[in-house]
Amino acid sequence: LTVRASSYADELVKTAKTIASPGRGILAMDESNATCGKRLASIGMENTEANRQAFRTLLVSVPGLGEYISGAILFEETLYQSTVEGKKMVDVLVEQNIVPGIKVDKGLVPLAGSNNESWCQGLDGLASRSAAYYQQGARFAKWRTVVSIPNGPSALAVKEAAWGLARYAAISQDNGLVPIVEPEILLDGEHNIDRTFEVAKQVWAEVFFYLAQNNVMFEGILLKPSMVTPGAECKEKATPQQVADYTLSLLRQRIPPAVPGIMFLSGGQSEVEATLNLNAMNQSPNPWHVSFSYARALQNTCLKTWSGRPENVKAAQDTLLVRAKANSLAQLGKYTG
Ligand code: 13P
Repeated sequence: LTVRASSYADELVKTAKTIASPGRGILAMDESNATCGKRLASIGMENTEANRQAFRTLLVSVPGLGEYISGAILFEETLYQSTVEGKKMVDVLVEQNIVPGIKVDKGLVPLAGSNNESWCQGLDGLASRSAAYYQQGARFAKWRTVVSIPNGPSALAVKEAAWGLARYAAISQDNGLVPIVEPEILLDGEHNIDRTFEVAKQVWAEVFFYLAQNNVMFEGILLKPSMVTPGAECKEKATPQQVADYTLSLLRQRIPPAVPGIMFLSGGQSEVEATLNLNAMNQSPNPWHVSFSYARALQNTCLKTWSGRPENVKAAQDTLLVRAKANSLAQLGKYTG
């Protein structure tokens, strides 16, 4: 049985390699309008299109950002938006040598028949949307689904998450977009690090089973896992060394080295914690490109520093560059604080 390879196969491999290049990682700036609203509320700003545009203009136009950032994930609004100065956001990124990406999932809804768990929508119409996003300049995609440890996870929720990710990945590759495969294992809960490790192994086993069943080309995907940590409410905290040991053990047992990039999410870790954990994972050679795809751990200080004031734009941009550089060093295992 032979399966037709995506006509984009060579381009997918090239795009994935570009994003997973040494010393660089992804800036996740694809908050949905609702989530972006929460971020803006935290600095006392209204959730208007103009305010979202102002903040994202600030992010994409940080001078020198492309030295540390290889890809930026956008929400649909931003993919079609221009900067405050009237230049397409996508063009500003490409000029900075940053590959534009697009969040394509349609968010989480309750999963009937489960233990209060959720599933991720967005497969209907995904092929035509993906083709349009490619036309608009996107070269990679993201689909985030979640698995909750306190609520199970039930076998049903894990299977649904894995199957949805695999269908999305196949459709993305068919339309020239490198899929980021993101089954986020939520930090919430009192469970210890061993429990997270067990759940993560189960989730990634199923994800790769269905990726293979759907003939997804592993050389043309990127992963966005959660690091293996104790639950946020667990009394025993883990050191960066422990997080690195558990997480690398997970990768060794579950992730084929053909996958060109493992771009971790920050998931509520502090900015410094996310950098230290990444740095610990890169202390010795491993078969993957272990890097970052952070939203909050890159943007938090930047957002606060900006606070919606034009006179703070430069200072806010400087803080983003500081975080991006720190994580770039951590990707190379050379962060010293
Ligand atoms: P955080 O790094 O804030 O977890 O966000 C990454 C992301 O894009 C989640 O999908």
